[in-house]
Amino acid sequence: MKKVTKAVIPAAGLGTRMLPVAKGVPKEMLPIVDKPCMHYLVEEAVASGITDILIITGRGKDAIEDYFDYNLEYNNKLCASGKEELAREMNAIADMANITFLRQKEAKGLGHAVYCAKSFVGDEPFAVLYGDDVIVSEVPVVKQLLDVYYKYGLGVAGVKGVTPEQIVKYCSLKVDPLEQGVYKVSDMIEKPSPDKIFSLLSILGRVVLPPEIFDILERTPRGAGNEIQLTDAMRELAVTKGMTACEFEGKRYDIGSKLGLLMANVEQGLKHPETGEAFRDFLKRLVL
Ligand code: UTP
Repeated sequence: MKKVTKAVIPAAGLGTRMLPVAKGVPKEMLPIVDKPCMHYLVEEAVASGITDILIITGRGKDAIEDYFDYNLEYNNKLCASGKEELAREMNAIADMANITFLRQKEAKGLGHAVYCAKSFVGDEPFAVLYGDDVIVSEVPVVKQLLDVYYKYGLGVAGVKGVTPEQIVKYCSLKVDPLEQGVYKVSDMIEKPSPDKIFSLLSILGRVVLPPEIFDILERTPRGAGNEIQLTDAMRELAVTKGMTACEFEGKRYDIGSKLGLLMANVEQGLKHPETGEAFRDFLKRLVL
C-alpha cells in the first residue's frame, strides 16, 4: 500500500472558549512550557513519517506562519553572540517538513476546513490532526493510526473512552471489535443528545482519511452548531466504504479549553528538563 505522506492541520477556528486570549493570539500558538501547541502537532506528524503538511489558517493567525519560517533577526543576533547552535535549532523548526498554509475564509466548521485541503491532498489518503488537540505519547498517534490504515485499508478514527458528561459535547461511535483496541465503525453522531449515544467511544483529534471524503464533504450540509461537521461526512464514509477506529495510547490535552491548557502545562512542566525539579518544589509548597 502507498505510504501516507500528507497531513492537514485545521487551525482556523475562532477559539471562542479561549477568549479573551484568542482575540490576540491564535490558540494553536499558546505554549505548553516553551513550545507552541502547533509545534507539538508538526513534530508528531513528522515522527509518523509525514513529509508534507498543510495548515489551514484564518484571519489573525499569521503568527503560525511566522513561527515556521526563518527569522533572520534572531539568526543574526544569536550568531553574533556565539549562540550558533541555538540559531541552528531555531532554523530547524522551519525545516521540519514541507509546510504550506491555506486560509479558510470563513470558519464554517471542521468539515469545511478539511475540504479546503482538497487540491493539496489530491488522490491520496491523508492524516488530519485537529489543531487544538495535543497528544503526548510514546509512539506518535498518527503512526498508531497509520499502522491500522495499512492493515485494513480503510479510514481510521483515533478514539478514546470519555465520560457521559463529555460525550454529549464530542461525538459518539457505534463500533464492533476487530482486535484489541481496533474496531469497525458502523455509525457515528456529532454532539448526541443523551438518548442518541451509541457508545462512550469518541474521536479525539486524529483521523486518517481516504480522498473519497472530499466528494462527501462537497455535499455535506451544515449540522450541529450550524457548522459543516467532519463527523457527518465520516459517518457517510463509514456506512458506504467502511471505517475503522483505533483506541490510541497517549495523553490528550484539549488546549482549546482553559483547563486543558493548564493541565498540559502542569504535567509537561513537571517533565521538562529545565523546569521539572523547581516546578515540583513550587507545587509541593503551594498545595501543602
Ligand atoms: P473546535 O470546534 O475545537 O475549534 O475545532 P473552535 O471552533 O475554534 O472552538 P471554539 O468552540 O470556538 O472554542 C477543532 C479544530 O478545527 C479547527 C479549529 O481551529 C480547531 O483546531 N477549525 C474549526 C477550523 O479550522 N475551521 C473551522 O471552521 C472550525
